[in-house]
Amino acid sequence: MTAKIIDGKAFAARVRRDVAAHVKTMKERHSITPGLAVVLVGDDPASRVYVKNKHASTVEVGMNSFEHRLPAETSEGDLLALIARLNADPAVHGILVQLPLPDHIDSALVINAIDPAKDVDGFHISNVGLLGTGQKSMVPCTPLGCLMMLRDHHGSLSGLNAVVVGRSNIVGKPMAQLLLGDSCTVTIAHSRSQDLPAICRGADILVAAVGRPEMITGDFVKAGATVIDVGINRIDAGAGKTRLVGDCHFDNCAAQAGAITPVPGGVGPMTIACLLANTLTACARSHGLPEPEGLTA
Ligand code: GUN
Repeated sequence: MTAKIIDGKAFAARVRRDVAAHVKTMKERHSITPGLAVVLVGDDPASRVYVKNKHASTVEVGMNSFEHRLPAETSEGDLLALIARLNADPAVHGILVQLPLPDHIDSALVINAIDPAKDVDGFHISNVGLLGTGQKSMVPCTPLGCLMMLRDHHGSLSGLNAVVVGRSNIVGKPMAQLLLGDSCTVTIAHSRSQDLPAICRGADILVAAVGRPEMITGDFVKAGATVIDVGINRIDAGAGKTRLVGDCHFDNCAAQAGAITPVPGGVGPMTIACLLANTLTACARSHGLPEPEGLTA
């Protein structure tokens, strides 16, 4: 079987165009410009790249971008005071605090200080609870992006067997909730699961989010299954070079799968696109406007 490659880069470009069109309408009809505030504490190089990309994408779709770069030694109290100001600011519809935070700051305390209606990461405990009980919430960006690609590929997901490998709060758990919401039969497996290949071979939809380079090989994949690879791992490619690989061994899994997302160019680009979609959704909700169709769970 030759797997269809699910092009996340092209899909994300479509989502961003869709968001930009909604932003234009909001400005013209309602004089509202959606605004996203991103808070970066410290100067972790990877985080700085993410924040720079988020800023550029936000501006590109016509939204306001408010960047707050704070020194690594910022106190928890000062960070909480900034969050309170952003919560109260009507020009800010979405707030994202880039993780990881420095060790002296309690991340859970900070995340739970964000107004849940502005929590475009979907990490606030209220949003976690709302998602878990099937109520309207802000949904974490990476699983939302995976869901969009799965819906686009399959149409209905109802009744399909889905296996999510990985149990993180950011991807694995919310992904499982979303698949359940779309009436899949869901299994959450992880690195300690017994006979992981056999569990995975039962999947019509296999979502890999374990953070272990190329751990999922072809013998984990049922013929014709859809494989969504959330992993982004940088490995040594020899001769002093590195390359990005997913949690799935691409060639190996593609030989078995019906469809598969590549790394890079699969799930990754969807995450920022969904952050913009969530900011638009938060803005629409805060003004009592209809939610943009196809951009929410
Ligand atoms: N750091 C790495 N990924 C993420 C993310 O999705 N959200 C936030 N806030 N920080 C991150």
